[in-house]
Amino acid sequence: MMFIAIPSVLTAAEAAAIRAAAGDLEFADGRETAGRFAREVKSNHQARPSPGLEAIQAKVTGALMAHPVFLSAARPRALTPLILSRYRQGQTYGLHVDDALMGGLRTDLSFTLFLEDPAAYEGGALVVEDALESRAIKLGAGDLILYPSTTLHRVEPVTAGTRLAMVGWAQSWIRPTAQREVLFDLDQAIEEVFARDGKSGPFDRLARTRSNLLRMWAGE
Ligand code: NI
Repeated sequence: MMFIAIPSVLTAAEAAAIRAAAGDLEFADGRETAGRFAREVKSNHQARPSPGLEAIQAKVTGALMAHPVFLSAARPRALTPLILSRYRQGQTYGLHVDDALMGGLRTDLSFTLFLEDPAAYEGGALVVEDALESRAIKLGAGDLILYPSTTLHRVEPVTAGTRLAMVGWAQSWIRPTAQREVLFDLDQAIEEVFARDGKSGPFDRLARTRSNLLRMWAGE
């Protein structure tokens, strides 16, 4: 199962600018956008549609779709509109699985972009459950965690301060996690081979292999 933490998708200054802009937005009860069962355990607020929110969504989507690690790990075909979520003291999102279909997309990967300094709030970790273990993830402002949408996960109650984050989903060109992992490793190897020897024979063969695997595996 591939969990990838991507540091500094946004700079500290960019995250701070979004926090400041969020202060001017109107927020609504997050239950409005939750599925029937997730609604039972969801207690947060989400920014209502507005030009201010659209500017934030465009900024973050642009940063993601230009980020080499995000592109390599997710192979995104499309992203859902990003949600700006806010948890204040006492708010939480209990254990749930994300809807498989959202806005015409199949959700292959979920991600959370943390926007608040972890020292500014208590609790609020994202906990993703695996078959054997659960891991609690709380990253710095501007850092992102990417994980398969097939998992059960929750957000621990915030006990002090405010947790602001953007969440979203990607439909990937490569649906199986194991295949995405192979391509992620291959990207890494190609970079290393190129850094060491430039455009050599091994580089060409690895690049051809990657390209042809993508052709074989890329699908709906
Ligand atoms: Ni979720």
